[in-house]
Parts: sequence; structure tokens; C-alpha cells
Amino acid sequence: MSSVVKILMSYIEMSGITKRFGGVLANDDAGLSVDRGEILALLGENGSGKSTLVNVLAGIYTPDSGSIAVNGKHCAFGSPHNAIAEGIGMVHQHFKLIPVMNAWENISLGSPPADSPPAGGARADRPLAGCGFFDNFISANIINKNVINKKIGQLEERFGLTVDHDKKVYDMPVGEKQTVEILKMLYRGASALILDEPTAVLTPQETRRLFSMLTVMKQEGCAVIIITHKLNEVMEISDRVTVMRKGKTIATAATRATSARELTGMMVGASVSLEIKRTEPPARVGEPVMQVENLSFVDAEKKRLLDNVSFDLYGGEILGVAGIAGSGQRELCEIIAGLRKATAGGARCRGKSILGLSPRQIRKSGVVMSFVPEDRLGMGLAGGMSVTDNILLRSYGLNPGIFVDRAGGSELAAKIIERYAIATPSARHMVRKLSGGNIQKVLLGREIHAAPSVLITAYPVRGLDIGASYGVYDLLNEEKKSGVAILYIGEDLDVLRELCDRLMVIHAGTVMGVVDPRAVSKEEIGLMMLGEKAA
Ligand SMILES: Nc1ncnc2c1ncn2[C@@H]1O[C@H](COP(=O)(O)OP(=O)(O)O)[C@@H](O)[C@H]1O
Ligand SMILES: [Mg+2]
Repeated sequence: MSSVVKILMSYIEMSGITKRFGGVLANDDAGLSVDRGEILALLGENGSGKSTLVNVLAGIYTPDSGSIAVNGKHCAFGSPHNAIAEGIGMVHQHFKLIPVMNAWENISLGSPPADSPPAGGARADRPLAGCGFFDNFISANIINKNVINKKIGQLEERFGLTVDHDKKVYDMPVGEKQTVEILKMLYRGASALILDEPTAVLTPQETRRLFSMLTVMKQEGCAVIIITHKLNEVMEISDRVTVMRKGKTIATAATRATSARELTGMMVGASVSLEIKRTEPPARVGEPVMQVENLSFVDAEKKRLLDNVSFDLYGGEILGVAGIAGSGQRELCEIIAGLRKATAGGARCRGKSILGLSPRQIRKSGVVMSFVPEDRLGMGLAGGMSVTDNILLRSYGLNPGIFVDRAGGSELAAKIIERYAIATPSARHMVRKLSGGNIQKVLLGREIHAAPSVLITAYPVRGLDIGASYGVYDLLNEEKKSGVAILYIGEDLDVLRELCDRLMVIHAGTVMGVVDPRAVSKEEIGLMMLGEKAA
């Protein structure tokens, strides 16, 4: 390679990457480049090929064609060991740590003995072959515990990170596990760090801490590639952004020279309105539609998952629920919907007690409640059945028997398919074979069509494209305007703050407060999610 070309090339360059999984073209002539001292954001909708592209770079997938060059030198990775030998390390969406080991053991696991050069000095000539993970770990463990901890300490200082070296991974909150993963890569000499959706699991505070770590890494001369689908994060942290759509890398822009709106247009291939059109709820007249009082739930292992939860839900409002995943959201929804029994407490709908009633009994009592659960294909829909049959499921439930009104069902299915623009080859198509967005529309369409007075939704946009997500927010707003009382369990705080009229924040099954989401900051909500009471 001529020296001129070498100068023009970035630290890492991928080009012409194509990768198929069976019939799916996950990467289609894709590429990216990143320099030392730079943060590149990789942006794209679900399924656009982001993870595949970085997995190729990290040596986890071998591409069908295309090339990778590091420092102008052509590299054929094909294994994570080779990639890390070139200084490329990846922090996965799902961490690969060993829970029963502590931080320093995890960090040094699989690395050469600790006398090797520190971060930034990764060398391809360092012998990695022949040291099996555990052999290597045991020898490192016996000989080098102090050396390892010292080296970790130096990395912590250099990159502004801190972990408790002796803490077991299973005792760590998610943010700390992520820091351990990052340290593990730095320990192995990574000078390029790939993070696949690192903020998806973090609170705002943890995200802030991660971003300041990434900024230090950049200042220390590392190259960082961060995958996210959150536009505000792209705008905040990245120097450049590469947008993917349908396996292709559509465009790369300097972050400062682009805008969230422009990036969205590139992501979805059309301009969509990214606005949640919230209207003020009507003045409250009369009783709330639903009243939940001192609801508690203790599971089979005696774990208290809900503790004295009380709230009112009025017609024509969206009450949001914010909390770290697993704080009792699921149990709350399932108890109200009659799918699970509470340990104590009560719930009333239009004055009638509904607690302890099955979904069918709730309906028979005259309360129309709709539930769009987290697990669409488990609880909400039957994946192996057609769109029509799934739409009819709601009526089967109330009116079991073999005399199902099929003609009426087809008509209803056609109506829902049209009304919610469900992309399906036909109403007889199996639900499981539809895309995530369309599966969600079948469920929402069915549930909204039932004209509920209470609508409970848990993470209704999870796995959906941006366009489809905003479609769901529009639908919920329409329902709200027609007087439905909506309980919305969400995870994206920006969306919760824009969409909801009131926001209930829970921590470990306890209500920390119900706030006006526009009157409190994201950070304040984050603190409540971590267990601080509302001011
Ligand atoms: N291991 C795999 N086997 C089969 N299909 C896959 C695999 N990994 C990804 N895909 C498919 O490739 C496409 C791109 O996926 P992915 O790279 O994970 O996208 P993103 O990270 O942008 O959401 C999707 O259609 C996905 O279903
Ligand atoms: Mg991905």
C-alpha cells in the first residue's frame, strides 16, 4: 500500500461488507471508518444491520465479502482473539461476564499474564495462542493477583473509571457490570472500543457516567464506536454518525453538521414527524375510572415485588409508569388485568371491585379492560394462528364454543388491517411470520377495537421502528381523547415525559411519587427510579 493512501486512511476502515444469514441479507455492501480520538455513532432502526456490522469488526462473524483495514493494514479477523490482538474490543448488548467471579478475575480472564503492555499498546505479535481461558486464568490468578490489580488500578486512573475489584459480578448493578466489561477490553489492550446499545439498560445517571468515560477514552486516543437508536444520544456524544438502513450504510455525517430530523429521514428513508401530540386531559369530573389501593404482591420465593401500591387513573388521561426494568411493572399489570393474584390490597373499576377476578369475569362484570402486554406473542397473541383468528381470540374468550362467527371475523380483521395499516399478505397469514411492528399493530388494533374504558400497555413500542413507534403514540393519544383511561408502562424517559399526563415512578415495587412529567427533570426521575422519594 502506498504511503499516500495510508495517510488518507482512517485508523479502522471497513468496506464492502456483505453478510447473509440464510435468506436474510444482514449487511449489504456496508462500511464505516473511525479514527483514534473519535466517537462514531452507528444509527439505524431495528434490524438494519448495526450489530452484524460491528460483530464482523469484532471478529465474531466472518463476512461473505468485504475488507477490514487497521492502520492501513488489511486484516482478516474471523475470531474475537484476532480482533483484540489488533486492539479491537467489543462490549456486548448482553454482558459476557461470569457472575460468580469478582471484578478483577473477570477483567483478567482470558488475558495474557499481567506483565504485558497496558492499554493502547496492543500488539499483534503478542502470543495469545495456546493459553486456554482457564489455564491462563489460573496461572494469572496464582502468580499475578497483585500485578493484575495494580494494572487495573492504572487503567481506572487513566480512563476515569472505578469498580470494586473484589465485588462479585452478581452483586453489581448493570452500570457497574458494563464498566467491568469496558475495563476488561482495555485490560486486553483495546484501543478501539465497540459498544452495542450500551445505554439501553442504563438509568440517566449511569448513561451520564458512561458518556464521560467515553469522552476520556477519546481524549486518550481510543476510537469508539457506539450503537444507539436514541437520536439525542447521537447528537450529544458522537463526532460523526453513520446511518444504516436495510443492511446498507446509507450516509455518514459530521454530527455537528446534521440534525436529529435529518438523521431520522436517513434512517427511515422518508421524513417522519417525531412529535408526540399531547393534549391536556379534560378537567376531572366524578370518580376515577380505576382505583388501586395498597396493592402488594409477594412471590413464591417470598420476594416482595409490589409494596402498598396505590394510585387513581382517570378517564382521558395517560398515567405513565417509570422504573428500572423488573421493579414490579409486570406484576402490577398482570394483577390488574386479572392474570395474577395480589397478596393484599384492592382495585376497583368504576366503583366495582375487580381484584381476584379473571379477565373473563372482569369483562362479564361490565368493565372493558384491554391489556397489551410486554410479551406479545406469549400472552397477547397466538403466533401460530392467523391474523383473523387472533382478532377473534378476544371474542372466543368471552363466548367459547364452536359456533364462531367466521364471516364476521374476516370482516373485522379486514377492517383492523386497513385501519392500522397492517402489512400482511392476507388476513389468513400466520401472526408469527409478521414483522414486530405489524404483530404489535394486530394486538393494539384488536384491543383498541374492543372499545375499552381502561387500556393497560407495557412497553408497547419495544422492538418497533421509529415510524411505527410514533404511530403507536398517536393511537394512544386518540384513545385518550375519546376518554379511555390509559396506564402506560414505558422505558424511554423522553417519551414518558412527552406522552404522559402524570408519571408514577416506582422503585423495587414501591411508588416513589406521582409527578408532573414536565415539571421535573430527567435526572430527578432517574433518582426516584433509584429509590429517592419525590421532593
Ligand atoms: N445470527 C443471525 N441469524 C439469522 N439472522 C440474523 C442473525 N443476526 C442478525 N440477523 C438478521 O439480520 C438482520 C440485521 O440484524 P442486526 O444486525 O441484529 O440489526 P440491528 O443490530 O441493526 O438491529 C435482521 O433481519 C436480523 O434478523
Ligand atoms: Mg442490534
